[in-house]
Amino acid sequence: MKLKNKVAIVTGAGQGIGKETALALAKEGAVVVVSDITEKIHDVVKEIEALGSQGLAIKADVSNNKETEEMAKKTVKKFGRIDILVNNAGIFPFKSLLEMREEDWDKVLDVNLKGVFNCTKAVIPKMIKQKYGKIINITSIAGVKVGHVGLVHYCASKAGIVGFTKATALELAQYGINVNAIAPG
Ligand SMILES: NC(=O)c1ccc[n+]([C@@H]2O[C@H](COP(=O)([O-])OP(=O)(O)OC[C@H]3O[C@@H](n4cnc5c(N)ncnc54)[C@H](O)[C@@H]3O)[C@@H](O)[C@H]2O)c1
Repeated sequence: MKLKNKVAIVTGAGQGIGKETALALAKEGAVVVVSDITEKIHDVVKEIEALGSQGLAIKADVSNNKETEEMAKKTVKKFGRIDILVNNAGIFPFKSLLEMREEDWDKVLDVNLKGVFNCTKAVIPKMIKQKYGKIINITSIAGVKVGHVGLVHYCASKAGIVGFTKATALELAQYGINVNAIAPG
């Protein structure tokens, strides 16, 4: 139980990597806020409770900064702190560059990159007060090491997360906040 009494928020936790991350954190004893735009968050919380841990479902669109601020506020109101943020929410709608329209580009950048900015901004006031925080950004090998046909916007957003992570890590180190990125393959 490495994470007993820690409070974690995982975005995009209704399914996939986010859901498995939420369950893994819960297995280590963390209280987990399961956030997503889908109703699946309630089932994930039930799974967390079945593990003997505590969970809270909060619906929030990471591209909307009012919703991410509300997510952080509700977390602090219920649990008193935020120790871990996993910026996992991401979309990857395939489209060739030739067919890609401005709104396709904006949507992917808003969710994948601005979403990381919004959620990070929402949690850091509390983490700074605590002098403790762990922020984990989920990027991808697509954009970091390799390109991917049909995912120009996605690759750009994921490369953006790497730059964001490096700069944020330097800026927040003085407050005891670690910022890292994971690039799944
Ligand atoms: N699966 C892979 O092979 C792979 C590889 C590299 C990187 N990644 C990254 O890992 C992360 C998770 O991928 P996955 O395969 O589990 O994806 P997934 O599509 O299975 O799950 C993504 C979750 O994010 C949620 N989501 C979408 N838009 C959202 C928004 N605006 N606000 C909040 N939540 C939103 C979805 O509802 C969904 O539950 C993504 O950032 C993805 O880019 C995945």
